[in-house]
Amino acid sequence: MLGPVLLAAARSDGLRRVVASAPVTRPVVDRFVAGETLDSALTAVRSLTDRRLEVTLDHLGEDVTDASEALRARDAYLALAEALAAEGLGERAEMSVKLSAFGQALPGGHEIAHNNVLPVVEAAAAAGTTVTLDMEDHTTVDSTLAVLADLRATYPQTGAVLQSYLYRTEDDCAALAVAGSRVRLVKGAYREPAEVAYQDKHQVDRAYVRCLKILMAGDGYPMIGSHDPRLVAITEALAARFGRKPGEYEFQMLYGIREAEQHRLAEAGHRMRVYVPYGTDWYGYFMRRLAERPANLAFFARSLVSR
Ligand code: FDA
Repeated sequence: MLGPVLLAAARSDGLRRVVASAPVTRPVVDRFVAGETLDSALTAVRSLTDRRLEVTLDHLGEDVTDASEALRARDAYLALAEALAAEGLGERAEMSVKLSAFGQALPGGHEIAHNNVLPVVEAAAAAGTTVTLDMEDHTTVDSTLAVLADLRATYPQTGAVLQSYLYRTEDDCAALAVAGSRVRLVKGAYREPAEVAYQDKHQVDRAYVRCLKILMAGDGYPMIGSHDPRLVAITEALAARFGRKPGEYEFQMLYGIREAEQHRLAEAGHRMRVYVPYGTDWYGYFMRRLAERPANLAFFARSLVSR
């Protein structure tokens, strides 16, 4: 019941100010966010890659409301790409971007986001790495997939995220299960209406399995973005069924969530990538993590009481 309330709160500017300025918030945020600066993110990346994990970095930010903010988001990713190249991390670190941080919601936003993300994708390629387009609420899916198609014409390794809670996603999986295509399949983290998305958790899980089968049976590169132990086991069974070896698909989990499982999978020979968010604009990301799991909210509440 709390999930939808927290997801609504994730988009409230008033609450953003209250939560962000509360001194107790910081230690809880640190569990999910690798720091506010690029340097702190790179420190986290090194400690993960030293332990056989791969990473995808997210410079936090979303829903920008003016064009100059979108340019700042672009520039932050250009600096990140430069740092990955300088550190020789291109093989183990890729980048995840949210097109709403690149101006997608502004008037003419589709073109603005496309124009802003293109130099980032070029810089990623020059750094020996690639970009995955995160997926946001359902109103952005057509635009994001159209940007993906344009980018893939020149940079076929550009990836995207598909969300199993949307009714449309089985079709999108079929369209993207093609050679060279990289798809991260997730359950979905936004509050969506019943007109477009399953509301029941079991239906979302069942849809995930149907989508996973399409991706694993296809010719693309599936990226399993989930912490769900059942889905990890099903992925391993499907890999055996479709003759996919480790390295022909990968697992992905979020920074700070099920870390022991991340290491177990990497040690078992799987490709395991950790999604590492960093930056000052952590509010929306943090609220979605609270919404996913009531225990996180209890952890947050306990830290408030124990001050
Ligand atoms: P589920 O929520 O059923 O959780 C399974 C188990 O995982 C829980 O029982 C718990 O043990 C653990 N767990 C899950 N969430 C937790 C949390 N917040 N804190 C602590 N433990 C937790 N969504 C989206 O809409 N667009 C996107 O672009 C992305 N990108 C993305 C990248 C990567 C790498 C991941 C792993 C996830 C995303 N997501 C996302 C988020 C995704 O849609 C989903 O909300 C979360 O992954 C939670 O769903 P699970 O599949 O983990 O299952």
